[in-house]
Amino acid sequence: MRTIKSWRWMVRKRHMLIDGGTCEVKMKQLPFMGLVCIVMLFIVYRITNYQHLQTEIDEKLNPFYASKDIAVASNSLGNLPRGIIQARSDLELKPLWSTSSSRSKVNVSSSHNLLAIPAGIKQKSNVDAIVQKFLSENFTIILFHYDGNVDGWWDVEWSKKAIHIVAENQTKWWFAKRFLHPAVVSIYDYIFLWDEDLGVENFHPGRYLEIVESEGLEISQPALDPNSTGIHHRITIRLRTNKLHRRVWEVRGSTKCSDDSEEPPCTGFVEGMAPVFSRSAWLCAWHLIQNDLVHGWGMDMKLGYCAQGDRTEKVGVVDSEYIVHQGIQTLGGVSAPKRLQILKAQTRNILWMYELRYGKMRHLSSKYLNSAGSEQ
Ligand SMILES: *[C@@H]1O[C@H](CO)[C@@H](O)[C@H](O)[C@H]1NC(C)=O
Ligand SMILES: *[C@@H]1O[C@H](CO)[C@@H](O)[C@H](O)[C@H]1NC(C)=O
Ligand SMILES: *[C@@H]1O[C@H](CO)[C@@H](O)[C@H](O)[C@H]1NC(C)=O
Ligand SMILES: *[C@@H]1O[C@H](CO)[C@@H](O)[C@H](O)[C@H]1NC(C)=O
Repeated sequence: MRTIKSWRWMVRKRHMLIDGGTCEVKMKQLPFMGLVCIVMLFIVYRITNYQHLQTEIDEKLNPFYASKDIAVASNSLGNLPRGIIQARSDLELKPLWSTSSSRSKVNVSSSHNLLAIPAGIKQKSNVDAIVQKFLSENFTIILFHYDGNVDGWWDVEWSKKAIHIVAENQTKWWFAKRFLHPAVVSIYDYIFLWDEDLGVENFHPGRYLEIVESEGLEISQPALDPNSTGIHHRITIRLRTNKLHRRVWEVRGSTKCSDDSEEPPCTGFVEGMAPVFSRSAWLCAWHLIQNDLVHGWGMDMKLGYCAQGDRTEKVGVVDSEYIVHQGIQTLGGVSAPKRLQILKAQTRNILWMYELRYGKMRHLSSKYLNSAGSEQ
């Protein structure tokens, strides 16, 4: 009975659909409106569908941010004895058996700073020169060996004091995301995430830190000697007479920097080759580095978000301690210009995706992405 009934219902429905054909006559009166309607419905359907899929994929790919996982984490900690959870960790090497002398050594230096640097064996002498400078200021050193060659380093005198991490063909952003988790590096006042092709003859880490601290810079970089190769933004060039600067005045091409400019690369900007982060700026910047971000292109345009306040005040370029950028293409054999072009395009696409995903970034418009892509 029921099947017959429903069959009849279907027949009736089909009639109705056929009757709907009269609609066609009306549509001829308003063909344009009808077409627009259909197209809009289709677009809305596709967008909804796509967003739903994207959310699903994100939740699977990004356990960091899935709220379910966070709830699980706090549940699973609930049974730990009170007071056992430590908020901080570090990258210091610990003696297996601590004697009273080694214990007292540990608390001698009250300030902790970290230098993290990619290290290819071809850049050994330059990395050595950089590390020597930082070691004399008691920095903790972490080397990212992207060429798989660690053995080549054991003959440098400081090698055993450094931490060595090996992963082939990865960039410093990849390493930093995986091994410089904010909780792990939280004892460090400042984190230097530098490239290996920097000349440090005129750079002193201690004096640099004094300036950065006294000026309240949360994100900074040493200025680039005008001799440097691969200068992409004028704001990074050293001004001979300054101690530091926070903005640049320039009218050239699409870049128009004046007193009123509030955005990178006129102000609030450092470049990705030698950034220095305060603890809280790093906590923020670490989150800015996406898991699938390979090259840092375009990242520097976003660092202002992590200035911990007004980026025109808390981001700056230190002139009195400066470096030379040698512009050596090192990571992953990315030397052929064509491959560079492809990578740039990819990076821009990825950044666009982030822009869409995190709506609040949207106000930093395509202008910056384009300039990041075209000038580098
Ligand atoms: C190191 O720790 C000891 C014992 O807690 C303390 O007396 C001393 O002042 C500390 N030294 C420094 C430099 O903080
Ligand atoms: C580095 O640490 C040593 C002792 O571990 C100390 O004597 C020296 O003053 C420190 N240097 C700086 C620049 O803090
Ligand atoms: C790393 O890159 C080099 C050169 O491009 C290549 O020969 C090597 O196989 C790569 N290694 C890995 C693990 O992908
Ligand atoms: C720039 O390079 C030239 C030639 O290489 C050199 O003579 C000069 O001293 C350099 N200037 C600075 C400020 O290092």
